[in-house]
Amino acid sequence: MTRRAVLAGTGSALPRTRVSNAELAERVDTSDEWIVERTGIRFRHIAEPDETTATLGADAAREALKAAGLSPADIGLIIVATATPDNTFPATATKVQALLGAPDCIAFDVAAVCSGFLYAVSVADSMLRTGAAEHALVIGSETFSRILDWEDRTTCVLFGDGAGAVVLSAKDVADDQGILATRLHAEGQYCDMLYVDGGPSTTGTVGHVRMQGREVFRHAVTNLANVLGEVLADVGLKAEDIDWVVPHQANKRIIDATAKKLGLPADHVVLTVDQHANTSAASVPLALDLAVRDGRIKRGDLVVLEAMGGGFTWGAAVLRV
Ligand SMILES: CC(C)(COP(=O)(O)OP(=O)(O)OC[C@H]1O[C@@H](n2cnc3c(N)ncnc32)[C@H](O)[C@@H]1OP(=O)(O)O)[C@@H](O)C(=O)NCCC(=O)NCCS
Repeated sequence: MTRRAVLAGTGSALPRTRVSNAELAERVDTSDEWIVERTGIRFRHIAEPDETTATLGADAAREALKAAGLSPADIGLIIVATATPDNTFPATATKVQALLGAPDCIAFDVAAVCSGFLYAVSVADSMLRTGAAEHALVIGSETFSRILDWEDRTTCVLFGDGAGAVVLSAKDVADDQGILATRLHAEGQYCDMLYVDGGPSTTGTVGHVRMQGREVFRHAVTNLANVLGEVLADVGLKAEDIDWVVPHQANKRIIDATAKKLGLPADHVVLTVDQHANTSAASVPLALDLAVRDGRIKRGDLVVLEAMGGGFTWGAAVLRV
């Protein structure tokens, strides 16, 4: 038996307003055909003014706590992965803590953009195994609509808002249970390929998303296939051992190309990009929650999570749920 971080519950939350490609095409020079063909996206949810990264994160967290049969008072660690915090400070995790009514615990944010949830899971895994807490809330929550340039059709059609959360619990389990391995990477020399052109220390503004789409696409397929290979090798497993891949939902073509490179059948890949678009750090936990709730992912399944984002940063995790 080994002390490991085990998935105890999942949850998610989406803003009330859902926007189709056709609705978007009324205000942006684009079309449903172009968006579907290049990305697989059909809908995205857009936050109303009263819906923020903290409120969406707290809603997702409540669902995850319910699924785990725990209350806010049981939580010793809250990590929010986000690139769109409610405020520059304090950490959105502390706002989520307040909204949940959780007492004194560890709470902080992780900034790794679209791979933020993988970074947060890896940090929580380490902290749970070394005894910093018994139960952790790991949340990916974003309101990317607030940092999109709605005049730039090359980026604004790609993103959406939402939140996903998991409860990870420290347990003494067999060696093949819980989070088995995580791998993280960053290559800062590519930080200009996907970034926000503002910030407190530079422009003093919030800024907007800027991206060299083709370059991001090329790096994403290579990096994601490599990191999936690494994390599987770490635990002595092969692509055919995987029950479900829950990929970052940036673009269906990236997901398909990565799966093909690894020889993964498409019906073992959870796909939500058509419904949610790219929700950055929220995309993996949102997709995970959906597949758990609709019964695709079951107890005992071997699940692989992966994501890549601005920085570039990327990572993967393999777990037995
Ligand atoms: C963004 C992306 C979909 C663009 O697809 P692409 O095939 O590379 O398309 P290009 O950027 O070369 O643009 C092709 C044409 O479509 C046009 N176009 C761009 N956005 C458009 C839109 N929303 N609607 C209609 N036309 C559009 C371009 O202006 C260009 O027109 P031109 O040939 O007349 O100049 C693709 O590069 C991509 O998915 N990249 C990865 C993005 C991503 O996932 N980022 C997040 C990672 S975390």
